[in-house]
Amino acid sequence: MHWEKYSRQKIRDVVFDAIGKNLNYRDSPPIGLPASYLDPRVFYSDAPFLADAPYMNTMVANPNHIGCHTLGDSEPVFSGTQALERELIEICATQIFQAESNTIDGYVASGGTEANIQAFWVMRNYFMQVHAANQNEIAMIYSTDAHYSMPKGVNLLGIKSIVAKVNEETRLIELEDLKESLLNAVSTGVEHFILVMNMSTTMFGSVDDMASAVELLESLDLSFKIHVDGAYGGFIYPFSSDDPLYSFRNPHVHSISLDAHKMLQSPYGTGIALIRKGFISYAMTKEANYVKGKDYTLIGSRSGANAVAIWMILRAYGSEGWRSKIEELLDRTDWLCIQLKKRGISFYRHANMNIITIRPDGISSSLAEKYFLVPDDHESPSWWKIVVMDHVTEGVLDRFLMDLDKGQTNG
Ligand SMILES: Cc1ncc(COP(=O)(O)O)c(C=O)c1O
Repeated sequence: MHWEKYSRQKIRDVVFDAIGKNLNYRDSPPIGLPASYLDPRVFYSDAPFLADAPYMNTMVANPNHIGCHTLGDSEPVFSGTQALERELIEICATQIFQAESNTIDGYVASGGTEANIQAFWVMRNYFMQVHAANQNEIAMIYSTDAHYSMPKGVNLLGIKSIVAKVNEETRLIELEDLKESLLNAVSTGVEHFILVMNMSTTMFGSVDDMASAVELLESLDLSFKIHVDGAYGGFIYPFSSDDPLYSFRNPHVHSISLDAHKMLQSPYGTGIALIRKGFISYAMTKEANYVKGKDYTLIGSRSGANAVAIWMILRAYGSEGWRSKIEELLDRTDWLCIQLKKRGISFYRHANMNIITIRPDGISSSLAEKYFLVPDDHESPSWWKIVVMDHVTEGVLDRFLMDLDKGQTNG
């Protein structure tokens, strides 16, 4: 894994160069576009700080990245910033997820929800168009710990779902139970499966055992494709583990979703959809005639500044810088686990992730609320989670432990 770290100056220059290659609404006469720079009364472009603020500058220039820019034609008016989007997609695909170069299509989606649903939409249409399946013959398999974008996708796409139970302690899918559900689905006419594998889950940071799930589906001779939900763990797990299954080296993996607006701390609106080449065309809207190159995405218009923000963060760290940031967060998580163990508090934690999920008898609800721990269920919490992000410093954790030691537990 390697991508180069750029200096602040180089990042500025590259972004300004990209904006310069886009059509400029001020200097050129684009009278046919229903678009312009940001409203000048509110977002004035002669603010002096903008000369050194590449992201803000892109926002003011307001490029529209409508469509998908890793295949076919694209709107030529925003070609400069589209090239940065292509570069960040290629970094994620080849350097983080080990694809061969130019084998993955992708775009910056509104978030993990959209990136997930985009992948399901592509796969559903593939099964319908290539295998002549109807919606009742396609089912999505996901665990009870999976994010709610899975049922949302099932509902929107009109396909069936199989929700796999997980073990209370290990958070791993109960395979015998899944086998029964699969056989049941087959007996009711389901022929194709979209298997969602979590890299990692929202509440626990657990990572699904892909090898066992694949072995099960293969033993039943089922037709399936895997989508990896990396919206939470996509910028963590590949840096903390060496797991070739959760990469494009694994031929079963058809698509991966990521969220830069979580660990990467980029602005909201920065999900990333990665899909093997040759498939995104199943989601092409041929009626998108006014869009040069048509539209393969769920969203339509989207801000080019979001792509620039992700590109800037990736380049500001480089692969080594990002790896060491993740290492530091995991060290802090390890340390907190030791402290909790010393106090006899039970919790779940995946060794490669920065989430610790505590049983409610280990902590009072007032303490959990004081530190904004997130419950699995606001009505009746069975778990509270701590996410060791950038701002969750040793100092903050020390204060939390001191409060915990003051006896604010339920027990
Ligand atoms: C595992 C997982 N998938 C998908 C999502 C959805 O992401 P977003 O809120 O960006 O749509 C989340 C958000 O927390 C998540 O943790």
